[in-house]
Amino acid sequence: MTNTDMEKVVDTSDDWIQQRTGIKARHIANDTETTSYMASQAGKNALAAGGLRPEDIDAVIVCTSTPDNTFPSVAASVQAQLDIPPCQAFDLQAVCSGFVYGITVANMFITTGQAKRVLLIGAEKFSSILDWDDRTTCVLFGDGAGAIILEADENGQGGLQDRGVLSTHLYADGRKKDILYTSGGPATTKTSGFVVMQGREVFKHAVTHMADIVEETLVANDIKPADIDFLVPHQANIRIIEATAKKLDMPMDKVVVTVDRHGNTSAASIPLALCTAVNDGRIKKNDMLLLEALGAGLTWGAALVRF
Ligand code: UT7
Repeated sequence: MTNTDMEKVVDTSDDWIQQRTGIKARHIANDTETTSYMASQAGKNALAAGGLRPEDIDAVIVCTSTPDNTFPSVAASVQAQLDIPPCQAFDLQAVCSGFVYGITVANMFITTGQAKRVLLIGAEKFSSILDWDDRTTCVLFGDGAGAIILEADENGQGGLQDRGVLSTHLYADGRKKDILYTSGGPATTKTSGFVVMQGREVFKHAVTHMADIVEETLVANDIKPADIDFLVPHQANIRIIEATAKKLDMPMDKVVVTVDRHGNTSAASIPLALCTAVNDGRIKKNDMLLLEALGAGLTWGAALVRF
């Protein structure tokens, strides 16, 4: 759905959307394309890319705030749709930071020996929880899913040269929960509600927290921005992404940007961006990647990963 299509829905313009957000288009799933359907498609692609079978997976984690149903989890549906035998499966909800939280949990499963191969998916159908009369939110979000598989490897040296998750840094500040929320939920309105956002406030927090978290990640690993091959940020707004890249003194050709074609897909945005840059050949085996995101909660975090 392009910005021009959006002009027919609310009082907006292609110019405004592009200038303020960098978004040109977003994908809107149809009624049969549920979150679990999109998640399963992404999971299937990840299995194929890794040359793995469903029985090779022993944990499924789906990062989402837009499940098909309140329960069971999307992860359980994915497990059924992909025919993955009984194993650990659950959803993780940290809204737009979901994938950074998810990769942290998946890595803990791997490093503690709780799992050998984790299918980690970010999947969202935000179009279902948008107020399509509210131009301040409905133009921003889109639907989609992306997936990765983390695999245990005992041959590493335990250093920065190893492939895998090198460090993760997570935060939440629940005192800021009222600047981005849904207007309902099962235990209040008995509906899912719609996205409500104080955009300018969220924007300010995003710029500050992303600058701080990338700095924290560099210091924790004793690395310089030049050591990072690609920044793979949450795709909410090109202006937030550019501010973080500037803080890192990173040229934009080392930053993966998909917000123009996907809009903000919440927990799906980082894996969608990652898969885009892997598929087009930019991100290669052994590249060092910095993933970072901020979302409702507020929640935010970063992960340093050697691909
Ligand atoms: O993923 C979770 C985290 N979310 C984010 O990181 C989003 C963070 N926030 C943002 O990206 C930006 O704040 C927005 C893109 C949401 C808004 O951009 P902004 O530059 O902060 O605009 P604003 O909210 O200050 O609004 C500026 C003007 C307002 O008009 P007035 O009051 O100045 O006359 C709005 O009514 O733009 C108007 N406006 C629009 N105009 C055309 C708001 N939405 C639209 C629209 N089309 N869709």
